[in-house]
Amino acid sequence: MLSLQVPAKINLDLRIAPPRPDGFHPLSSWFVTVGLFDELTLGTYPLPGIHFSCDDPTLAVDGRNLVVRAAGDLLLLPAAKNAGLSITLTKRIPTGGGLGGGSADAAFTLLGVNKLLGLGLSLPQLAAHAAKLGSDVAFFLHGPSALCTGRGEIVDPLPAPRPTAALLVLPQIRMPTPAVYKEFDRLALGSTLGTAAEQVQAWTAAGSLPAADLLARLVNDLEPPAYALAPELRDLHHALERQLHRTIRMSGSGSTLFTLYDDLADAQAAAARLAANETHGTHYRAVQLCPPLPPL
Ligand code: C5P
Repeated sequence: MLSLQVPAKINLDLRIAPPRPDGFHPLSSWFVTVGLFDELTLGTYPLPGIHFSCDDPTLAVDGRNLVVRAAGDLLLLPAAKNAGLSITLTKRIPTGGGLGGGSADAAFTLLGVNKLLGLGLSLPQLAAHAAKLGSDVAFFLHGPSALCTGRGEIVDPLPAPRPTAALLVLPQIRMPTPAVYKEFDRLALGSTLGTAAEQVQAWTAAGSLPAADLLARLVNDLEPPAYALAPELRDLHHALERQLHRTIRMSGSGSTLFTLYDDLADAQAAAARLAANETHGTHYRAVQLCPPLPPL
């Protein structure tokens, strides 16, 4: 039996180019894991197939769930013939929040099933399965800090940034990623992306800056389309910048907003202050950036 802590991610920086012929958008993004975790338990089961349960009743527990798809993909391998798996997922990472929870669950399922069944797949082999499941899945095979390019599936490690903490602002808004990209296209937006090597060099240097200076360099090209679809998210972004006197960014396609701190205690103090005055059900979480994880 394996019990895994599955971390969420934030996109510190996210630049996106106009779409490719297949509809996906070339991007260049600095991903880091954060200390907000789902729990995934994997064990063998006496009957063949996948026996999956999840504590969140809003999530599908069939082939639409990325955990089931990831495990199912590996069960097709000859080495896994007739294997039975019991998988339990406890959701703590909000869905539709740009925190990559579903992708993280899928990646840790690949890692966990590979280990549990002794399949002996290498990281590049697992990455090929990850890329089929979604653009963000491969990042979580590597973590905790990386530049992701292509449609997100090409991962180059980066050093963890000097700021050690983030304040996550989790509004009661779900942003559907395809709709945000569609709005991005409608607005005819798009950055010119440098090469991965140039980006790795630039972010390696910027990563040694203190939080306020690093924040000043961060961009998320999906903020304009997300805010066009959800103007209340733009209002929240601006209100937070006024209240905290620091740069706020959105993660992924939203709705999570964040800012960075050099010390976790400062992020915790800000979270407590904001929570005390909250009236719209928004949650505030102070989290570690790139938290250490037990070896799998
Ligand atoms: O790959 P994933 O399933 O995470 O992507 C979800 C949706 O986000 C895609 O269907 C597509 O609309 C959009 N997307 C994109 N370009 C990317 C990544 C995602 O257009 N690089």
